[in-house]
Amino acid sequence: MSTLPDGLVNLFDFEAEAVHHMAPPEYDYVAGGATDEVTLRRTRSAWDAIALRPRVLTGTRTTDLSTTVLGHRVPMPVLLAPCGGHRRAHPEGECESARGAAAFGTILGVSANGSVSLEEAARAADAPKWFQMYFYRDREQTLDMLKRAEAAGYTAIYITLDANWPAKRERNIRGNYRQSERPNYKGGEPPPVTTAKFDSGQSSRGRVDPGSSWDDIAWLRDQTKLPLIFKGVMTSEDAAQCAQHGVDALVVSNHGARNLDTTLATIEVLPEVSAAVDGKLEVYVDGGVRRGTDVLKAIALGAKAVLIGRPMFYGLALGGADGVVQVLDILRDEVESAMMLTGQPSMDAIDRSLIAHMPALG
Ligand code: FNR
Repeated sequence: MSTLPDGLVNLFDFEAEAVHHMAPPEYDYVAGGATDEVTLRRTRSAWDAIALRPRVLTGTRTTDLSTTVLGHRVPMPVLLAPCGGHRRAHPEGECESARGAAAFGTILGVSANGSVSLEEAARAADAPKWFQMYFYRDREQTLDMLKRAEAAGYTAIYITLDANWPAKRERNIRGNYRQSERPNYKGGEPPPVTTAKFDSGQSSRGRVDPGSSWDDIAWLRDQTKLPLIFKGVMTSEDAAQCAQHGVDALVVSNHGARNLDTTLATIEVLPEVSAAVDGKLEVYVDGGVRRGTDVLKAIALGAKAVLIGRPMFYGLALGGADGVVQVLDILRDEVESAMMLTGQPSMDAIDRSLIAHMPALG
């Protein structure tokens, strides 16, 4: 039975309510971005500034929200982004999120920085899940993580490319934030570089390899038959490289504006990435997706699906698996409404003509 608070009408309500249900440093860790949070603010403005062109008298009585991602059918093109440390929002961590994802029918990304082991998360629900890891300095560690993910039954691997150096997140520095346990890494190693240096005051150089290059991809590609999804692409140049290197999908992402500040919003670069990829691989986008209309805009500009990160934490904090499902249910209703009101019978029917204009935010 759900214990969710009343009055949660949209995803922003979840964020506002979650403040009261999470420890302040944990809330700041989830909600915050890098340095001045310029990109974080720009992100919502960018989604909001794009206008839709609704069509009428299209004869559309029902609409099919479903799509496929790497061959998996999902009820709508919204996936749960790989994020570390779900225990900061729920005592059962990724296991609880996995139950929510399975109940809705979408795909959970499980981070190597998870607060339960990747094997535990895999066992928690019988549904397809994708594992997210990095290029480590130590290739043995890279291979070991990959093989563990394969053995645990993950059906695709995200390689995150935009977190190879410590991010400066000032809310966390001021709050003296300490990263939580990361059971996938053994032997008391320092936490990954994504936040270690600035958050804890340690000058750990971390385990992710800042020097990895496209030459390393060929090696990685040879190590697994699982689909590879490169996460953190923000330019047409890198998108073209992904297409050339046998990558199966990419995520246009700036890590939720948490790492490098003052980039464009992801929805602003989606058009150039889609053009560069030219249908050779699946393109997903994340960062600030909070409305059903955002989902339609992403599809219209060339994405196959979107990922949501922070709203998953807020759902977990407010209602565990039920909370995650409710976040997704709200989005689904909004996507359906936007599809009907723009006259779209299916995801495949959506194209660039749905977008009135892409204003430059300057
Ligand atoms: C993340 N993200 C992330 N990404 C990743 O590849 N590996 C990780 O371990 C994490 N960890 C993580 C923790 C927390 C608390 C957040 C909020 C995010 C980034 C995530 O996958 C995604 O790119 C963004 O969250 C998308 O933006 P929104 O939906 O949060 O605005």
